[in-house]
Amino acid sequence: MTPRHFLEVDDLTPTELVEVLDLAEAAEPPRILSGKGAGLLFEKPSARTRNAVEMAVVQLGGHPVSMRGPEVGIDQRESAEDLARVLSGFHAVIGARVFAHRTVVRMAGAARVPVVNLLSDAAHPTQALADVLTLRQRFGTLSGRRLAWVGDANNVFCSLSLAAAMTGIHVHAACPAGFAPGAEHLARVAAAGGEVVVTERPEDAVEGADVVSTDVWTSMGQEDEAERRRRAFAGFMVDRALMARAGRDAVFLHCLPAHRGEEVAADVVDGSQSLVWVQSENRLHATRGLLAFLALGDQR
Ligand code: CP
Ligand code: NVA
Repeated sequence: MTPRHFLEVDDLTPTELVEVLDLAEAAEPPRILSGKGAGLLFEKPSARTRNAVEMAVVQLGGHPVSMRGPEVGIDQRESAEDLARVLSGFHAVIGARVFAHRTVVRMAGAARVPVVNLLSDAAHPTQALADVLTLRQRFGTLSGRRLAWVGDANNVFCSLSLAAAMTGIHVHAACPAGFAPGAEHLARVAAAGGEVVVTERPEDAVEGADVVSTDVWTSMGQEDEAERRRRAFAGFMVDRALMARAGRDAVFLHCLPAHRGEEVAADVVDGSQSLVWVQSENRLHATRGLLAFLALGDQR
């Protein structure tokens, strides 16, 4: 049987997404990985994701084995496919944080167990699960809420906008020219039942928003572009003046790590509207919910 993978949020149906969020909040996590392992590959650095997924596996009764990119050497020591085949013999689930999204797709194509995307250049779906969990805890019903994204239409934006579409949240994205979401992604959001209103003016996107979210201007793997990006994103910092345009009860989200004084002002990320610490802890709960969902599915 083909295993169930999680490479992007819309690999779940909207109903399954709610199931994952409910499992994330289960008082007693099922010990469904008891005696089993999770093979976790990290081609890029990670603090939150690695800790969240390792502890999620532990709380489900399993044992995580994390590997750094160079010790595995995808397409140097062996192919992504061979690694996935080998890990499938040891583990109940595979997680991978990769440079190229294609790598995690290739792993999923060869694996005999579920593969979870722990961040690629195209998507960060476990982050989006934590984001909507955080918003559900704050707002209860998500349908009809308005989320403003300010900055790069990057991996985090792509997954969050899909999760928003699947939960009925309207998205307004302010991105500098050249950093807006592509047509293919907008079509995918539409297929998930949502829409992204794109502008180059942060103040328009944020007007009346319930949620303001941003991310770094330069993602991992784009370090060579940092200077060009710093220039392009000038004027896109989320500061108090920008937050003042949002709704009175608006909250601020950031996947972290944050760069105070670049994409976000210190008094916003550290201010009373910021939910970033709850959001980061929810990485654990959301990932545990997802792994429980996938493991339970394997037993169906
Ligand atoms: N938000 C997030 O994925 O953080 P890490 O890169 O530290 O895992
Ligand atoms: N967009 C960022 C997210 C880090 C969690 C990156 O890919 O580096």
